[in-house]
Amino acid sequence: MTRRVAILISGGGSNMAALLDSMTGDHPARPCLVLSNDAQAGGLEKAAARGVPVAVVDHRPFGGDRARFEAAVNSELDRAGAEIVCLAGFMRILTPGFVARWRGRMLNIHPSLLPKYPGLDTHARALAAGDAEAGCTVHEVTAELDAGPILGQARVRVAPDDTPDSLAARVLAQEHILYPAVLRRFAGGDRRPVLLP
Ligand code: GRF
Repeated sequence: MTRRVAILISGGGSNMAALLDSMTGDHPARPCLVLSNDAQAGGLEKAAARGVPVAVVDHRPFGGDRARFEAAVNSELDRAGAEIVCLAGFMRILTPGFVARWRGRMLNIHPSLLPKYPGLDTHARALAAGDAEAGCTVHEVTAELDAGPILGQARVRVAPDDTPDSLAARVLAQEHILYPAVLRRFAGGDRRPVLLP
């Protein structure tokens, strides 16, 4: 029995594409939906080109009513029969109600070595701190932002001439390896962390 995976995006969807491309062969999951809160998200075309159903739930008409926005998202997830939700650059804060509904079944990728640098501007913060290494984390989503149980991490050496952009690019390349590796393990029922390299 393969698990049905929905991916939530807001942007270019490079992590989404890596996840979609990984779910073939003996992988224990298959994509059932890519959903964006922004109709302009570049990832929607990438998903459609791969033959994956797409949906848009624009948050703006809900005027800040997060619960009603999330009810609309949940109806799309239910319609698609989603069992696992992967957040992949989904730029909306989720309510505790939504998080509780998907608890233990919702993953996120974050571009830092959590618990360091939850939130935004992670690469600039790592450089400002003089860190020798940076990286990315896949974690279960809980009510506290970027703080759920860690399911995998990949580490990247910081170079002396790194800028936030150059570091972000190297970390992103690792995200594309880490997230599929974690999803494969997680969908197979194994929550032990994937540690790369
Ligand atoms: C990634 O850096 C991810 O870690 C962060 O948002 C970015 C999304 O990039 N949460 P993409 O849309 O997957 O290309």
